Amino acid sequence: MSQLFTSFTFPQSTLNLDNRIVIAPMCTYSSIDGFANDWHFQHWSSMLMSSAGLFIIEATAVTPAGRISEADLGIWDDERAQAIKLHLDKARKIANAPVGIQLAHAGRKASTPVPWKSDVKKPWQVVAPSAVRYHDSYPNPVALTINEIEIIIDEFVQAALRAQSIGIDIIEIHAAHGYLLHEFLSPITNLRTDEYGGSLNNRMRLLLEIIDRLNAHPDFKLPIGVRISATDWVEGGFDIEEAIEVAKSIQARSCAYLHVSSAGLSDQQKIPVGPLYQVPLAQAIKQAVPDLPVIAVGLITKPEEAESILTKQQADLIGLARAILYNPRWPWHAAEVLGAKVNAPLQYVRCAPRGRSDLFKPHPDMDISTTNATDALNK
Ligand SMILES: Cc1cc2nc3c(=O)[nH]c(=O)nc-3n(C[C@H](O)[C@H](O)[C@H](O)COP(=O)(O)O)c2cc1C
Repeated sequence: MSQLFTSFTFPQSTLNLDNRIVIAPMCTYSSIDGFANDWHFQHWSSMLMSSAGLFIIEATAVTPAGRISEADLGIWDDERAQAIKLHLDKARKIANAPVGIQLAHAGRKASTPVPWKSDVKKPWQVVAPSAVRYHDSYPNPVALTINEIEIIIDEFVQAALRAQSIGIDIIEIHAAHGYLLHEFLSPITNLRTDEYGGSLNNRMRLLLEIIDRLNAHPDFKLPIGVRISATDWVEGGFDIEEAIEVAKSIQARSCAYLHVSSAGLSDQQKIPVGPLYQVPLAQAIKQAVPDLPVIAVGLITKPEEAESILTKQQADLIGLARAILYNPRWPWHAAEVLGAKVNAPLQYVRCAPRGRSDLFKPHPDMDISTTNATDALNK
């Protein structure tokens, strides 16, 4: 039996995934002023129709200053949250699956151009643990005061509550790729001498305070996942040993998972890029902290690779980014190859390949001819 197509329930939660495929968060730089729009509806419908077990919405800014670019999605107020809800509800009427959202603050890597543009129309002041910029071509950050850190903690909490209020199933705190929370974690970017800098305990304080505040909030009920860069790939930077300590602290706080990525903090990084290159990091964390579910991600492109990572117990879940953007039917093809079944819209079940007429599990939620769904789509 395929491990990739075995269901999964996050510990201490009722959130059940139909299979182990997780669509990793991917910025689409398609918002105007932080609002979701028809682009997101189309893209989210496509991702949800992929039949992946969990779809995580792109890095979504908890405050305008925390956007990577002017075109980032935002959830810093109720209006933006309602725009996400409007488009996501419609997409989920077409094809439903558990949905997560990555809550993000870009720190010193904010206020940068959309990848396919050359400049930022209205640049803004960026912030960081310390006043050190990423690179000559990046803006100069100012170091956050304790008061400002307190405000950012609250912005994460408010964003998470908004995510819950619009029907999101799980949140992912973005502490990877050289953005604000990673900048606090890494000794390269965190030169502070107060309680948020120095020892690893101090450097991870901000991330843990956000989690503690959410856990202590009487109204917040969603499972919390965390994404980290498990190494900076720089001598003297944040590394796998420190990542394991972060994983232990996250596990102690009953988090739902750790999503194990790497890099993004320094232009000095030397990444050994290749197929499955981050899987050993996920595996090291899983071995050291066995009760914390781990998502492996990074150049996992073949169904057999995904299956083997799970069979060898290197990770619990498989994150896909570029491969599923390239081919949103990746899970269907993987199920075909691995002899498994996937949920599929009723409208498409006749396309099952020869000899695999049992490939699809027609999903009753996907019958858009029902009154509810038609009403929702026509709104
Ligand atoms: C277009 C694009 C946008 C991305 N945006 C995000 C993001 O919003 N948040 C994040 O944590 N990682 C982001 N990433 C990184 C991916 O989630 C993933 O970790 C990385 O691409 C490696 O996985 P892959 O080899 O399956 O693509 C992005 C990657 C791509 C290609």
